[in-house]
This record gives sequence, structure tokens and C-alpha cells, in this order.
Amino acid sequence: MDKSLSLKDECILITGAAGRIGSAVAKIAFHAGANIILTDINYKAMNDSAKELIKIDGSRVHCLECDITVAEDIEKMISSCLSVHSVVNGAVHTAYPTSRGWGARFEDIKPEDLYLDLNMQLGGSILFSQKILKCFERQKKGSLILVSSIQGINAPKFEHYEGTSMYSPIEYAAIKAGIISITRWLAKYYSDKGIRVNCVSPGGIKDNQPVAFQQKYKKSCTNIGLLESEDVAHTIIFLLSSAAFAINGQNIIIDDGWVL
Ligand SMILES: NC(=O)c1ccc[n+]([C@@H]2O[C@H](COP(=O)([O-])OP(=O)(O)OC[C@H]3O[C@@H](n4cnc5c(N)ncnc54)[C@H](O)[C@@H]3O)[C@@H](O)[C@H]2O)c1
Repeated sequence: MDKSLSLKDECILITGAAGRIGSAVAKIAFHAGANIILTDINYKAMNDSAKELIKIDGSRVHCLECDITVAEDIEKMISSCLSVHSVVNGAVHTAYPTSRGWGARFEDIKPEDLYLDLNMQLGGSILFSQKILKCFERQKKGSLILVSSIQGINAPKFEHYEGTSMYSPIEYAAIKAGIISITRWLAKYYSDKGIRVNCVSPGGIKDNQPVAFQQKYKKSCTNIGLLESEDVAHTIIFLLSSAAFAINGQNIIIDDGWVL
């Protein structure tokens, strides 16, 4: 097997491709030589974020609208991928569906929002995994990357949020711990099939957070503090590549030492 960091001529499918992490993965996968299939519920935002790549080589970029919480939508999207490229070599699930009540304080969570968020985020990840792994099983190869978070590993550092409107929801911790768990389950379940399933746990990504938060957050880290999306995307590209052929069922923490 050729073990390299290149994704040349590979087909990489990215959900949530208009988002912070999804668009960074798209850019870096594209520059690593991949044909990229971008999917998001927000077609316009996805198309806008892919403009630069389309300008460079539109034949290597395909945008497909898809609601990742709807099984039929996922199936349709995967068969559209296969009609463009006969194989999907890798998939990265960064879609991040949230309810209207997302981010409520623990005391104020409404059951209808809670069930929706658990369904859409954890259920959606399981559903997407089920559909894409069926495709990988047929192909006898494929690499799936799920996205957890440092909040799935450690308790939040609540003191960082003091004096801001920011919050780290309990459902987020449960969902993200669940993502690490389903990664291990799936990697083992699909043993001997040429399939790998891994997960990344990013730290916070720069997004105009209040300066007071940024400063406190940085004190918990080793060198950098809040990350750029690209910092996370590079590790995802490595995991997708054949250079990571022996890594399976793992959760790679990308957090500048926040969890230490
Ligand atoms: N941003 C961070 O600081 C951070 C840190 C750690 C982990 N993460 C995780 O990374 C993942 C991506 O986060 P992000 O910051 O890039 O999010 P984002 O909000 O920037 O992007 C998410 C994308 O998902 C799309 N989306 C929402 N609902 C959808 C649906 N039903 N179907 C298809 N697409 C849908 C949105 O349109 C959006 O483009 C999430 O799982 C998040 O928990 C983010």
C-alpha cells in the first residue's frame, strides 16, 4: 500500500461543508489533491464558501444540498456522490444541527429542544455513519471521521465563561462523549472490511469570542489558545490519508493542551 499524506484523485465527502471546520477541511482536502463533495443544509453558504476552490478547478468540487438528519436525504446525497465519482474514499461529518433552544442554561432546558438536539446531533451522526459505512462496506474501503470536542472529554471550565453570555451545554458534553463512544463501536464493528473510523476532539475555535474569555482560555493551554479551523482540518486530512492506515477507532485531541 502507498502510504502518503496525499489525497490525490480521492473522493472526499464533507457534511456541514459551509461551516467553520467543514469549509477548512474542504480547502485543505482540495489542496491535497482530492475531489471534494460538499454537502450542507445551507446550499447558498456552501456554494459561497466553495467559490475560490471552484475558480481553481470546478471539476473537482461538487456541492449537494442535504439535511443530515433525514435518512432519505442522506441516501440520495450518497447516490448522487457515486454518480459523480464511482467511489467515496473518505467522509468527514462536521454538520452541526441545533434546535432553537440550543445553548440554554441547564436549569432552563426545554424537553422538546433537548430531544431534538440529541436526535439531530448524536442520532444524525449515527444515521450518517450507518449510510456511509454501507457504501464503504460495498467498496471494501473507506475512512470516516467524526467530530467530538474537548467538552466530550473534560468537564467545562465554567470559570472561563464568567462575565460573558457564553455557555457550555450539558447536552453538548453528552453528545460529544457519545461521538467518541460510537467511533470505537463502529471501528470494531467494521473490522476486516478495509474501513477505518476515527474521531477528532478540537478545542475552541476563534470566533470573535470576548477578549476576557480568550485570555482565560489561553491560560489553560500550552502555546496557542483558541485555534483556527485549519489547525483541526490538517489532522483530519492526515487521518483520511493512507499515512494513517494503522489508526482506527481513535479520538485525536487537537486542543493545544487544554485538557491537561
Ligand atoms: N467551533 C468550535 O469551536 C468547535 C470546537 C470543538 C468541536 N466542534 C465541533 O465541530 C463540528 C463543526 O463545528 P463548526 O464550528 O464548524 O460548526 P458551524 O456551525 O460553523 O458549521 C456547521 C454546519 O452544519 C450545517 N448544518 C446544520 N444543520 C444541518 C443539517 N441538518 N444538515 C446538514 N448540514 C447542517 C450548517 O449549515 C453549517 O454550515 C461540530 O460537531 C462541533 O461540535 C466545534
